[in-house]
Amino acid sequence: MKILIVYATTEGQTRRICQVCSDTLIAAGHSVELLQASGADEIDIARFDAAILAASLHMQHYQKEMAHFAAEHAEALGHLPTVFLSVSLAIVGGDPDELADLETIAQRFFEDTGWHPRRVEQIAGAFRFTQYDFLKSWAMRWVASQKGQTVDPNADTEYTDWTALKAMVSDWAAKVDKAC
Ligand SMILES: Cc1cc2nc3c(=O)[nH]c(=O)nc-3n(C[C@H](O)[C@H](O)[C@H](O)COP(=O)(O)O)c2cc1C
Repeated sequence: MKILIVYATTEGQTRRICQVCSDTLIAAGHSVELLQASGADEIDIARFDAAILAASLHMQHYQKEMAHFAAEHAEALGHLPTVFLSVSLAIVGGDPDELADLETIAQRFFEDTGWHPRRVEQIAGAFRFTQYDFLKSWAMRWVASQKGQTVDPNADTEYTDWTALKAMVSDWAAKVDKAC
């Protein structure tokens, strides 16, 4: 299959996640186009058999460029099997209230953009202290302490489960391929 992957990222973790998805799909024999949402406006969605969109949460919102891309291409995306990867830290720890919030935020995003993916996956992101300025670093240390997480403020702490991610994307592609 020809698979489009479009992502938005602020500190880089979602790009890493999409790169791993891309490598996994290519290894399974698919062809993949991996694009950043901000540079993907002109893409012809009809060229693809399936698509993955991915964005990360900051202050309860996904990146504006992903909202713009999804809204701009909602109709064409609606004709394809699609999956949305929502990258966050709220998913870490599995708190039911935080999970419910994630669900609400994703639903709001779909309603606002008019794009309704056939599958949604919540993916754990990372504390990227190497990318934060002073203020962000201070704020994220506070977030970590509220969640009872021990972090090294001089290093990144990654929660993404790469094995589970590869299994999820392989499973999705196999099901889509079978249905094609
Ligand atoms: C300033 C800031 C705000 C954030 N806000 C949220 C949030 O509201 N909810 C959440 O679950 N994670 C939040 N996060 C965590 C990010 O979603 C997480 O670090 C993710 O890995 C970032 O992905 P990216 O590197 O692709 O931007 C926030 C992170 C930062 C730095």
